[in-house]
Amino acid sequence: MITVEEEIDINKKTSYLSLINAVENLLETEHNELSILANCAALIKTFVKNINWAGFYLLKNELLILGPFQGKLACNPIRVGSGVCGKCVEARATIVVGNVHEFEGHIPCDEATNSEIVIPIFIDDEIYGVLDLDSKMFNRFSTVDRRFLEQITVIIARGVKMAKEKNPDVCLV
Ligand code: SME
Repeated sequence: MITVEEEIDINKKTSYLSLINAVENLLETEHNELSILANCAALIKTFVKNINWAGFYLLKNELLILGPFQGKLACNPIRVGSGVCGKCVEARATIVVGNVHEFEGHIPCDEATNSEIVIPIFIDDEIYGVLDLDSKMFNRFSTVDRRFLEQITVIIARGVKMAKEKNPDVCLV
């Protein structure tokens, strides 16, 4: 007999494995930076349950510029050091926020959001941008989510790096 928590984890892992597979399939044929980010935002929003926002901010001159996303209108730009996104860049590490109302400096975009995870995306050890996911649930993002989402950002970064090399004239940042 498995517990409810174990069952949730098994379902999450199955969804994340499908998401990884879908992202890898996309990257086999898609070599345009903007299109990769746009379709990855769509895939993440489709495969990750109970989220109300999923998208990218790209780092340019100490500012995070809003990139492709799925969800409500979002704040733009965000300074490094501001909000969860800017603090993630400063820390060069994932930030998981169980209750955004208790996070000092949190920048609210969709007022329905109660928890958030922001993962840095590295290309050649430099921060390219962040992947941001919001949820209406409190404490939505567990260590399982964090592990898989970090893995997904590594895969996306590889695809973006290749796209930049193949099509340097259409780079976003
Ligand atoms: N909450 C973020 C801002 C981006 S939105 O969630 C889409 C932050 O505090 O940086």
